[in-house]
Amino acid sequence: MGPIILNIHPTGHFDNHVKEYQHIIVIPLSAAMGAEIKDVQVSALTDESFAEISDALYRHKMVYFRDQHISHTDQENLTRRFGEFGLDAYTEGVKGHPDIQSVLKEADARTHMIFGGSWHTDSPFLERPPAITILRAVETPPFGGDTMWANSALAYNFLSKKMKDVLSGLKVHMSAENVLSEVQKHAQERDPGKLGSMDIKVNVNSMVEGNFHPIVRTHPVTGEKALYVEESYSMGIEGMSEYEAAPLLNFLREHITQPAFTCRLRWQKDTLVLWDNRICLHHAFNDHDGYRREMYRTTVLGEVPQ
Ligand code: OGA
Ligand code: MN
Repeated sequence: MGPIILNIHPTGHFDNHVKEYQHIIVIPLSAAMGAEIKDVQVSALTDESFAEISDALYRHKMVYFRDQHISHTDQENLTRRFGEFGLDAYTEGVKGHPDIQSVLKEADARTHMIFGGSWHTDSPFLERPPAITILRAVETPPFGGDTMWANSALAYNFLSKKMKDVLSGLKVHMSAENVLSEVQKHAQERDPGKLGSMDIKVNVNSMVEGNFHPIVRTHPVTGEKALYVEESYSMGIEGMSEYEAAPLLNFLREHITQPAFTCRLRWQKDTLVLWDNRICLHHAFNDHDGYRREMYRTTVLGEVPQ
């Protein structure tokens, strides 16, 4: 694809400043999104600090905490404060904790593909995709293994009124067809049923069939609108031929993920991150061969996208 000229000037849309909170300290990460929350242990939150953390999450799209000493049970409890556990389409969870998935790449794994290794929002092929994902680092490489996020609400705000009108009412077909065929193609070479070092168990038919969701989503709590389009699962647009939909989807993918709209996190052991899948995309990197990366993940069940 050729270069695209975008008109990103500081027109007042960039607004990642912090609100004043009583119980937490919040420090913005990039101009586009993200924030560190300091001075709390998520294993011992009062209702007041929890309320401020969810407010900060919706405002900054992803928030992270350093030095969180928590167990699987603590992570489950934090997740349940936001709602029910989300469905996990890829793994069966860890022993004794079915709602906690390990996200793992061993030091000696040499894999073409890793979990989350292209721009995506989590499991949008589901009827009710996860609203929030919570990921905790237990072992991190000395370099690499960062995660990036892109603010898809900010990206929506930078579109022209005409483009917003064009998109309004369109539905995107979210399907795992491409992702699963990549998994299968590379699984045959080495370890069938594995993605990196992870055991994968999927229901191919329902994940490929997927779901049609609004291409512009409205956040159920804040009312904010965001683009719901990405690289991994957005396969087409309802009522359009592939030939018609592809250029529009490609434009939106490039638009959302341009550097100005992103932030990037360097993980440390005991870093805990929360992101809101309804208003941002994220991307993992397969760039730490020779070093183990071990994370634990939970999700909060979302609504049917509106
Ligand atoms: C996820 C994911 C990114 C990472 O857990 O959904 O995409 O960097 N993880 O591990
Ligand atoms: Mn993901």
